[in-house]
Amino acid sequence: MTDSTIQAEHIDYSYPEENTAPALQDINFCAQKGEFIAFIGANGSGKTTFARHINGLLKIRKGTLKTAGFDVSNPDCLWELRKHCGMVFQNPDNQFVSPLIEEDTAFGLENYDWPTGEIPGLVHKALEQVGLAGYEKKSPSMLSGGQKQKLALAGVLVMKPDIIIFDEATSMLDPCGKAEVMNEIRKMHAEKNKTLIIITHSAEEAAQADRILVFNKGRIVADGKPCDIFSDEKLLQSAGLEPPLSVRFYLDLKKNGIELTSCPLTVDELAEQLCALM
Ligand SMILES: Nc1ncnc2c1ncn2[C@@H]1O[C@H](COP(=O)(O)OP(=O)(O)OP(=O)(O)O)[C@@H](O)[C@H]1O
Ligand SMILES: [Mg+2]
Repeated sequence: MTDSTIQAEHIDYSYPEENTAPALQDINFCAQKGEFIAFIGANGSGKTTFARHINGLLKIRKGTLKTAGFDVSNPDCLWELRKHCGMVFQNPDNQFVSPLIEEDTAFGLENYDWPTGEIPGLVHKALEQVGLAGYEKKSPSMLSGGQKQKLALAGVLVMKPDIIIFDEATSMLDPCGKAEVMNEIRKMHAEKNKTLIIITHSAEEAAQADRILVFNKGRIVADGKPCDIFSDEKLLQSAGLEPPLSVRFYLDLKKNGIELTSCPLTVDELAEQLCALM
């Protein structure tokens, strides 16, 4: 039995290059099974560095970290840990190992000695989930940037990990592709048995999570519900962030004396509230 929690205490990290500011400073974070969390923050604020700690890609220098019940500082745990915690990276080109898309998607399963008979069905399902069914016999190198990002996603989904970290996993996708991936994430979240973390520069995407962590200069400076985070103008300004369009509209209305019943996180919610007001 593994659990899907993450527990980080007092994590500090500096990259080995000389004279660089610490990439992480005193990071404390706990995630429960079934949570859907967004990490937001300006470029260089430490989001990816922390995510790479969670699945053991960076060696812990200071502090303690447990992921899915495994002690991340113990190198003997890392192989098993990565089966339970998958990460989709910012740059999909780093993630392909096979000349055929179906082989590439099957790679993780084969590595973990999955029963051979089950592999083709699982691969097909994962490729279908990301909209790449029919591409099985093609080469990853023939895919566009966005399609590569979808293939990288399939390679993680196929393993059915308990924890998935999506590090700007929709950055190269067109609006339709972005919505499809967010839909898949929401579907997984509805099943409540995975811990999902998205790292994103899209306030609209982050607003879909249950909880948002704001990173600023290597520290977590806020941890709360999307409506509380996005209506805190001072916090967003100091972290170099913007709220979603619907919240900007809500705040502008408020400044002009028009109060909506609650802070709308989507344009649809905003439209509903405006209609109710009229
Ligand atoms: N491989 C590396 N070697 C040296 N320094 C690095 C490396 N990767 C990141 N850094 C530094 O660590 C800090 C945190 O970077 P990190 O990539 O974690 O930020 P981020 O919040 O993910 O940013 P972005 O939104 O641009 O992806 C930055 O100051 C960055 O310059
Ligand atoms: Mg990053």
